[in-house]
Amino acid sequence: MNNRVFTVGSLIPGRLMVKPASAPILTEKSQQVVREKSHQVEIIIEQNGSRFEIHPVKGKLLDAALSQGMAIQYKCRKGTCGQCAVTVLQGPGLSKPNEREFEKLKNKISNGYRLACQAEIV
Ligand code: FES
Repeated sequence: MNNRVFTVGSLIPGRLMVKPASAPILTEKSQQVVREKSHQVEIIIEQNGSRFEIHPVKGKLLDAALSQGMAIQYKCRKGTCGQCAVTVLQGPGLSKPNEREFEKLKNKISNGYRLACQAEIV
């Protein structure tokens, strides 16, 4: 409830002090995090003709995609079914393919294929 009382004098233009809404206060560390995130390059992948742009977050590529609402197909999450295979169109900060990816994808790796459940964003 606002108990503020206005008098005739307070309504004279220029006398009514309205405090502008202040911007949220960011600490130096949180400002640095915001700066770093704004400069990160998106990871762009393709699966079954659909293209996805994923904001890089440390962890599995599949987890990052799913947490950002991307409808990536997957099944086992263990690197055995191959359902999560994607083509990486732009992938800065991705780990090198692991043994499971080499076993499952074989020579497709050289064409940019990765298993989203195995590829790590580092
Ligand atoms: S979900 Fe099965 S290999 Fe990735």
